[in-house]
Amino acid sequence: MIMQETLTINVEKTKKSKINEVDFSNLPFGQVYTDHMMVCNFADGKWEQPKIIPYQNISLDPSAKIFHYGQSVFEGMKAYKDANDQVWLFRPLENQKRINISSKRLAIPEFPEAYFMEGLKTLLQVDRDWIPTTDGSSLYIRPFVFASGNGFHASPSDKYTFIIACSPSGAYFGGKVKVLIEQTYSRSANGGVGYAKAGGNYAGQFYPTQLAIEKGYQQVIWTDDTSHEYIEEAGAMNIFVRIGDTLITGPTSDRILDGITRKSIIEIAKDEGINVEVRKITVNELVTAAENGALKEMFGAGTAAVISPISGFGYGDKDFDIPEIADKFAPILKKRITDIQYNRAEDKFGWRYLVK
Ligand code: PLP
Ligand code: COI
Repeated sequence: MIMQETLTINVEKTKKSKINEVDFSNLPFGQVYTDHMMVCNFADGKWEQPKIIPYQNISLDPSAKIFHYGQSVFEGMKAYKDANDQVWLFRPLENQKRINISSKRLAIPEFPEAYFMEGLKTLLQVDRDWIPTTDGSSLYIRPFVFASGNGFHASPSDKYTFIIACSPSGAYFGGKVKVLIEQTYSRSANGGVGYAKAGGNYAGQFYPTQLAIEKGYQQVIWTDDTSHEYIEEAGAMNIFVRIGDTLITGPTSDRILDGITRKSIIEIAKDEGINVEVRKITVNELVTAAENGALKEMFGAGTAAVISPISGFGYGDKDFDIPEIADKFAPILKKRITDIQYNRAEDKFGWRYLVK
């Protein structure tokens, strides 16, 4: 933990807002950026003061360690605006803690909680008009930190840059998602960095995911690296499976990201009276359940994807469809979590966080 004594956040506003160029009724995911960003540099063993500046390019030396050794981690959060124009975050301290868990694993200095929360709140106040109110959209928030120090020596950087950038965004997936259960490649391994939101974890998924897309799937379901017999998670989501009336999700481990949506869904489902099991799921169990009709639902859960229903999965050269049923859990759970996020319902768990 780095102790910082003072906190002063300077705000330099843009001279020319881009907001009138944006079609808020037709937002893609993560491709439009707000007018400002938060930047904070680490040098001489400490974090300097965070500042809010106009959204702009970053200039780095070609030897900057981020380019060579991938020393970088990130977070994904959202800000929501309610019918009374109030701005809300969802469990933001979980993201703040998790980016430091990720940073520690990548030998990046931890970022002080006050810098994260005050920097984020100041940025949201400055860019609050960018938070969309159209149905299903929100302001996607991307905090990230990377090695900005120079040198080809394969060792941790002496300089880092922490940025928070924001993007008014629509849905992450367009429609239903068909997934391929991966049998060859691995996303993570025991003792590795799978539990961290390290940029390299995602780069390593792109090639196997491209192969799956070429075969007609949208997403890979990762299995354990040793036996490929256990379902672990999707590229950017944790996985839930409903067999009969039981909702099952795998336990987290050093190979799996401890998703904030996942743990919220577990609590909401229990509150709904749904039988929830957190235990390992084998591919064999999934295939058997699909074959005998016990597999009722599968969905991914994550900040960007919220709850994304999975319509079927491929395993080897076989495809398994998950037939439509009435009384699905996914829409109930999605409504419960988004009603909390958008301040449309009571928040008995105390997860909502008002940005004043
Ligand atoms: N798993 C991976 C690999 C992810 O990138 C994400 C997205 O953040 C998740 C799971 C879901 O985590 P959360 O619900 O905290 O967004
Ligand atoms: C998120 O859900 O916020 C993520 O970080 C996923 C991302 C890779 C799009």
